[in-house]
Amino acid sequence: MRKLAAGNWKMNGTRAGLDMVTALLAAQPNPGCDMLLCPPATLISAMTAAARGSRLMVGAQDCHAKPSGAHTGDLAAPMLADAGATHVILGHSERRADHGETDDQVCAKAEAALAAGLVAIVCLGETEDQRDVGQTLDVIAAQLDGSVPAGATAANLVIACEPVWAIGTGRTPTLAQIAEVHGFLRARLATLVGVAAAETRLLYGGSVKPGNAAEIFALPHVDGALVGGASLKAEDFAPIVAALSAA
Ligand code: PGA
Repeated sequence: MRKLAAGNWKMNGTRAGLDMVTALLAAQPNPGCDMLLCPPATLISAMTAAARGSRLMVGAQDCHAKPSGAHTGDLAAPMLADAGATHVILGHSERRADHGETDDQVCAKAEAALAAGLVAIVCLGETEDQRDVGQTLDVIAAQLDGSVPAGATAANLVIACEPVWAIGTGRTPTLAQIAEVHGFLRARLATLVGVAAAETRLLYGGSVKPGNAAEIFALPHVDGALVGGASLKAEDFAPIVAALSAA
């Protein structure tokens, strides 16, 4: 399978920040993995234009479950596709925390994404309290079972496993902990999508940096990363793409 280096810009970036795309493409014109950036929705069109003719794909960070309607301030999956997005991140822990998104809602959004022809990047992850009391595998199993829609395949679904306590903190699980979770997810996914599980990309997310990328990418069942802070600058993201290309 082709691995995926995905960047999540979160609520960061204006058109001035698109210089980063030029620098990234200069550093990684032909990476040995798929390369995706998910800027704020305001930048999807402009980033798509900046990436035209290159290997860089552009994605969104959320979508509504309905294709259109009276939902002020929301964005529908077909609109994101129309703007140039090929992927959409769904159920990120910041949306689950800030907006109270439930597994059912994430599942409905993922269905909408698939219907619009987008690849759904469904995010899962335990909190530090849940890890401390030994609930990690139960929590991510419930999130996986509840968030993956019918009709998901290896081509239209990506799973990103991001321990909440590792996001933006500079802390990461041990390599053994990542390996345990990803091995568990691969097996669990088989109960949802059958043989497609072997080909479905499982990303690790949470404080991935140039300095720790190679050791994480060497683990079995880690098929790439969802990168937050280190995706904002080409000097950080390009070496992560290079490490994944070499893995
Ligand atoms: P981080 O964020 O790389 O800044 O920890 C990861 C994410 O939230 O996807």
